[in-house]
Amino acid sequence: MQKKNGKSRISVIGLGFVGLSLSVANAKCGFPTIGVDINEQKIANLQKGIPDFFEPKLQEMLKSALSSGLLEFTSNIERAILNTDLTFLTVGTPPTKNGKVDLSQIKKVATKISQILQKKKRRHLLVVKSTVAPQTTDNTIKPILSSFIDSGKLDLVVNPEFLREGSAIDDIFKPHLIVIGAYNKSAGKKLENYYTKFYSKMPEVIHTDPTTAEFIKYANNAFLATKISFINSIANICQQVPNVDVNTIANAIGKDSRIGPLFLKAGPGFGGSCLPKDLSALIEFSNKFGKKNTLFKAVKEVNDTQPQRIVDLLQKIGVLGKNKTISILGLAFKKDTDDIREAVSIKLVKELIKKGNKIKVHDPMAIGNFKKIFGNKITYCDTTDNCLKNSDCCVLLTEWNEYRKLGPNDFRNRMKHTNIIDARRILEPERFSDLNFMAIGLGQSEQQIP
Ligand code: UDX
Repeated sequence: MQKKNGKSRISVIGLGFVGLSLSVANAKCGFPTIGVDINEQKIANLQKGIPDFFEPKLQEMLKSALSSGLLEFTSNIERAILNTDLTFLTVGTPPTKNGKVDLSQIKKVATKISQILQKKKRRHLLVVKSTVAPQTTDNTIKPILSSFIDSGKLDLVVNPEFLREGSAIDDIFKPHLIVIGAYNKSAGKKLENYYTKFYSKMPEVIHTDPTTAEFIKYANNAFLATKISFINSIANICQQVPNVDVNTIANAIGKDSRIGPLFLKAGPGFGGSCLPKDLSALIEFSNKFGKKNTLFKAVKEVNDTQPQRIVDLLQKIGVLGKNKTISILGLAFKKDTDDIREAVSIKLVKELIKKGNKIKVHDPMAIGNFKKIFGNKITYCDTTDNCLKNSDCCVLLTEWNEYRKLGPNDFRNRMKHTNIIDARRILEPERFSDLNFMAIGLGQSEQQIP
């Protein structure tokens, strides 16, 4: 690949949702880009313009990037490194069983890069985007590559990513901030220069060292997690107080600019591939220093126990156990994704299977992933109508837009008993006052619960 209009040639290693979104966005901005992944099936599909997960806008942008000739995919990392100037490292850092971060993919790729760099003459810029605990670049990545850094052949920079699933493409083009953690000013400046060519309007940049950059990402996600567990704790109290609604409280406190309105939506608890993992890793990281981390442990505990609130409600209305059918609307950990990693739906369905319930599920995108876990233990429905048919209770678990459109008759005409638990607060309670409607954070009167 040739440099185009003075724009660096980019390689992206690890084509999960961050890596693939980044590859496509770079090509769209005119950077010749090579996406690399060890999964050859994934590469073959990407070459045909087919991503292995759903992300809004991604597939159409992928197709146009491929036809522009600026984007290619390969499983040959050597070819990618030798033919590009800047590499984004976006391999997975999944959680281990004890809450730490599995660095095996990072180590493997760093070792491979160190072998390839022996063959490379031009200076290379390696940018760590994978989310890793503070000091990982210092203690794990840098030592593998130190001879190239010392001899001036490699610049190593940490540049955390704040993309959200479901809006990854928009987030790439409109980030709230760029954090650059470099070992020296010139390396940090090089990455900033690349960004000035990527963005027509340059976002704010914070330059710092690699460990602080890694820490910023963890602190960012820990704060978001704390806000959610905070509002869920308030919601759980509200639910006990007739006529009090957590949404009214969240709306009011969100107007205080010191608090802000975002991430105050009460619900079944946070899931996904980042918040739960990063919170556990931060707790693990602080344990290293022998410090008791009371706050983050509490945030995690609130989240771990939040799905039980739904089970408690199901128990109160008497729909737990054999011969009772529960319909679950929404399996993805949030709307606009097919991702079910750490989704509340998994915990809830496992619990309901244990109780002997018959379970019917619907999701516009995530059924395929759910089948991989639950196989034929539950019933998968292609429409909400089918999912609600003859059901004893419906639990709304993901805030998909199509569920917001459901009206009282959609439930009344299909369900055996019109018990509804809105765990996402997407329906207007007043509209459902004729049905047995319950919601997270909505104070219930005794009459509602038979
Ligand atoms: C998160 C961070 O937002 C992003 O910056 C980081 O790069 C990756 O992790 P993501 O996992 O895609 O992004 O989802 P996010 O939108 O943050 O939601 C996480 C979870 O919290 C979801 O389960 C969501 O439903 C839940 N949530 C979010 C709430 O329950 N209430 C809220 O008010 C907001």
